[in-house]
Amino acid sequence: MDIKKIRNFSIIAHIDHGKSTLADRILEITGLVGEREKKDQYLDKMDLERERGITIKAQTVRIPYKSKDGTTYILNLIDTPGHVDFSYEVSRSLAACDGALLVVDATQGVEAQTLANVYLALDHDLEILPVLNKIDLPSAEPERVIEEIEEGIGLDTSNITLVSAKTGEGVPELLEKIIKFIPSPKGDPNAPLKALIFDSWYDPYVGVVVLFRVIDGTIVKGQDILMCSTGKKYEVIRLGVFSPEAVDINQLGPGEVGFLCANIKELKDARVGDTITHPKKPTPKPFPGFKKIKPMVFCGLYPVDPGEYEDLKFALEKLQLNDSSLFFEAETSQALGFGFRCGFLGLLHMEIVQERLEREFKVNLIATAPSVVYQVVKVDGTILEVDNPSKLPPPVEIEAIKEPFVKMEIHVPNEYVGNVLKLCEEKRGIQKDIRYLTTSRVIVIYELPFAEIVYDFFDRLKSVSRGFASLDYEVIDFRPSNLVKLDILINGSPVDAMATIVHRDKAYYKGRALALRLKKVIPRQLFEVVIQAAIGNKIIARERIAPLRKNVTAKCYGGDITRKRKLLEKQKEGKKRMKQMGNVEVPQEAFLAVLKAE
Ligand code: GTP
Repeated sequence: MDIKKIRNFSIIAHIDHGKSTLADRILEITGLVGEREKKDQYLDKMDLERERGITIKAQTVRIPYKSKDGTTYILNLIDTPGHVDFSYEVSRSLAACDGALLVVDATQGVEAQTLANVYLALDHDLEILPVLNKIDLPSAEPERVIEEIEEGIGLDTSNITLVSAKTGEGVPELLEKIIKFIPSPKGDPNAPLKALIFDSWYDPYVGVVVLFRVIDGTIVKGQDILMCSTGKKYEVIRLGVFSPEAVDINQLGPGEVGFLCANIKELKDARVGDTITHPKKPTPKPFPGFKKIKPMVFCGLYPVDPGEYEDLKFALEKLQLNDSSLFFEAETSQALGFGFRCGFLGLLHMEIVQERLEREFKVNLIATAPSVVYQVVKVDGTILEVDNPSKLPPPVEIEAIKEPFVKMEIHVPNEYVGNVLKLCEEKRGIQKDIRYLTTSRVIVIYELPFAEIVYDFFDRLKSVSRGFASLDYEVIDFRPSNLVKLDILINGSPVDAMATIVHRDKAYYKGRALALRLKKVIPRQLFEVVIQAAIGNKIIARERIAPLRKNVTAKCYGGDITRKRKLLEKQKEGKKRMKQMGNVEVPQEAFLAVLKAE
């Protein structure tokens, strides 16, 4: 393969700006996916992604493309995830590219993640090709958005392409520009093998599948390889490319992108960022490896039926095979029994994992309210990382509690700036900067406690800006705050799974709101239920649920047996998600209520 005819690139964009649609159109226009097998959003592999409209797992496609000059090129399109939680995954796929298409929605303009993605691409020294998408829409404002790209980002737009990923307009021109402006890879075919792993996942039939880009040398089917970080050796059993289905190939040279299978049993043996080399002639310069990402949001996951504990463990192990950013360890809760403490990159990541556990592995779950990681400075000088409020040491042992802060960048139209500032202030934010991207769009920069975002920040931001604000954030440091543990007691017993850490100024308000909410979601029982919120020994709120015998079929006078059965089934369904707390049955909603209490 002539290295000069290879182009390795990604598409980067703010969420919903049309990255997947553009990828589909490229596959179609280059003839890789014909009309018949054309499925919308081919690159969004999983059903779940399709439903949510976001990409979780990066997938690479090799596209032969015959250019107008008559030469056939190989385009390696590397699909990247688009959500704020997954910026690490974007970063690792970009490492395998030489260029990136920066897609900006012509009806929207530059958003927070447009900018964040540009920074990532610049970090990797990529050639950035700006693309203005959705020009078929009457509301498209190309001039305004081009100005935003020029002035807001400082990107040269002289080679910008105007496209409609939907109709395909402009896409042929874009393909020509990819050839012209994105540099071909560099690499030495005679140097020792050096390949970068930029993605890997577990496949039940073949074990770990590794996606890599060859930097130097050649990789050949049947050869032995060495993983630099683990020192483990493997034989390459399968070598190939996705085009878009898996196609077997005998060898891949510098600049090429492909996959391999080598009987690798565990994902940790094929870490993203690791270097593949030849055991007898190793590369002298392996990659330094990628930073290890730390989960920032934690919650407890418990099987509703204790008999499903092993199933849940199996499912988490399986998911982890494909998601190295997912963390879990066994945990026991007085209230919920045996389960797992799980760590996630962010809230969306958490939601996706929960949904997959339930949908793909059919495990019924109870999830506790998410928590961030706190640093507890103890009186004896030691520092403890606490990711579970119920594990907070007693107040007498605590010198200070530090909480993670994020730097948040919010892009918002002029008219909603006031609302956004109000929201950030309410969330204990510290204003850092406000500047104009253009005359009508503003960038607001705040530092906020991460815990305040974990609750309902995204939803609130959406509603106060009518959906026009976009955000990006990163955790910057830990700062001391006046924090206390808020306990929930049901009939006198503290429910460990409902404990939260809150700012002292908000504790009373939150305790009351919480008790009220729980009252609404915990069904009446045969006896009185008392819900209390407490800080230490001090009760700050109390609610009471009067006893009642619940007879769900009471409404069905007469003999409609099917309706009766339906109601009973429904009740059974509801029961499934209950947990016995002492003698009180508490539904899943109660745990969500802890999350939503405002
Ligand atoms: P994520 O994968 O969630 O990051 O989104 P994305 O950037 O891949 O966006 P996607 O391709 O899913 O497009 C978002 C929405 O915009 C979809 O409803 C598309 O049908 C629509 N869309 C994308 N491109 C165009 C276009 O050129 N014109 C019009 N009218 N709609 C488009």
